[in-house]
Amino acid sequence: MSKLSQPIFLPSNPVLVSVAADRRDATAARLCQWCRKPIPWHSRSDAKFCSKLCRQASWRFVVVPAARDIEATDRPLHFAYADPPYPGKAFYYPENREVSYKELVKRLLRSYSDGWALSVSSAGLRDVLLLCPRGVRVCAWFKGPRYTKACRALCSWEPLIVYRGRPLTTDRVQRVLDGLVARGRFRAFPNAMVGMKPPAFAEWMFAQLGATRGDFLDDLFPGSGAVGVAWTRYTSRRDLADPRDSSTFSK
Ligand SMILES: C[S@@+](CC[C@H](N)C(=O)[O-])C[C@H]1O[C@@H](n2cnc3c(N)ncnc32)[C@H](O)[C@@H]1O
Ligand SMILES: [Zn+2]
Repeated sequence: MSKLSQPIFLPSNPVLVSVAADRRDATAARLCQWCRKPIPWHSRSDAKFCSKLCRQASWRFVVVPAARDIEATDRPLHFAYADPPYPGKAFYYPENREVSYKELVKRLLRSYSDGWALSVSSAGLRDVLLLCPRGVRVCAWFKGPRYTKACRALCSWEPLIVYRGRPLTTDRVQRVLDGLVARGRFRAFPNAMVGMKPPAFAEWMFAQLGATRGDFLDDLFPGSGAVGVAWTRYTSRRDLADPRDSSTFSK
């Protein structure tokens, strides 16, 4: 036998070994579409989720694909969403380092001339707005309060600063609003964390930018990754989307 040739082992029961190998291959290739963990090998061959909990959580993560009346422009637009730790709140995150909003706004203006959206706390709004150019719009997400003892009115909303974006159509009554009422964090999301944005917020933020299918979005502080998942659903084809979806702001 030459030094280079590989030894050959014949299975004692070729049929059983090949079934086991097929199973291994199938499970190795199949990851849960929600939590990305392997789908158990005994699940149905067309299973997309590892468990009922994951299937239900994915079902509830509702994002309506871009409205047909957001007309595509002659080229796809490239947007950014920035959701850094809010001023003075870096201690919530492992980096434990304040982000320079001055540098961040400079970067957004330099690299994302098509448009961007920046989340900030209501307490930080005054300082951050001074860093932004004229023409930015301040939108309001009313997420409800977290009840606690306080000597001032409880904070129940968060501003979203929006720069440029694709203009919305003017040939019919506008349905996109600059305010959103939606409850906060989507706790069933894998890696849900403090400051995580729920799907209704993401859909609303995309609409503020006039984003549509074919556009690009850089999520600069992805955290849990929920905004990225919402973007994939928002830019999916409407005719392939789930019919049970309903818009949070198009009534
Ligand atoms: C408000 S959270 C983003 C939440 C995200 N939008 C979501 O829906 O899950 C801020 C994220 O920025 C990260 N972060 C904190 N400090 C940072 C720093 N100095 N530079 C870069 N990222 C930082 C945090 O770990 C966290 O993942
Ligand atoms: Zn799963």
